[in-house]
Amino acid sequence: MRILILVLILGISVTAASEEAKGDAKDEAKGDAKAGAGKVAVCVACHGEGGKKPAAPIYPRLAGQTSEYLASSLIAYREGQRQGGMAAMMSPQAATLSDEDIADIAAYYAQVKDGPEAEAEPESK
Ligand code: HEC
Repeated sequence: MRILILVLILGISVTAASEEAKGDAKDEAKGDAKAGAGKVAVCVACHGEGGKKPAAPIYPRLAGQTSEYLASSLIAYREGQRQGGMAAMMSPQAATLSDEDIADIAAYYAQVKDGPEAEAEPESK
């Protein structure tokens, strides 16, 4: 009888723990765009406000790219897996970002609207 109770208790706590882990993973993958908006102060210098007005054509536009692409790029820069081109400029920027920072920042840039009027702005400045 005692063993049965023990097994039941163990079963319940294992289920609870895995539900919790699932919840965490989901939040991290999704990212918090609002939190991300507060983490891009240094990025603006090169990628421009909202990632849509790069300071020069050599800097890619970030606005409206998918959060999956943005996050995987940032992880690749951080881990030194994305090299060549101008990656040497970007790797130090990503070096200090945590997984959560990356998810938040990716969520932020993915939701920035990047319409035709944003397209014209870098040229007219
Ligand atoms: C000193 C200028 C500079 C700063 C500051 C900077 N970046 Fe970059 N970023 C670049 C350059 C240059 C590239 C292109 C690198 C390459 O050729 O791979 C780039 C590329 C990227 C890319 C890949 C885009 C694509 O289309 O493939 C992402 C995502 C990115 N930066 C995010 C950020 C974030 C987030 C920050 C702030 C934490 C930031 N950058 C700060 C210069 C900068």
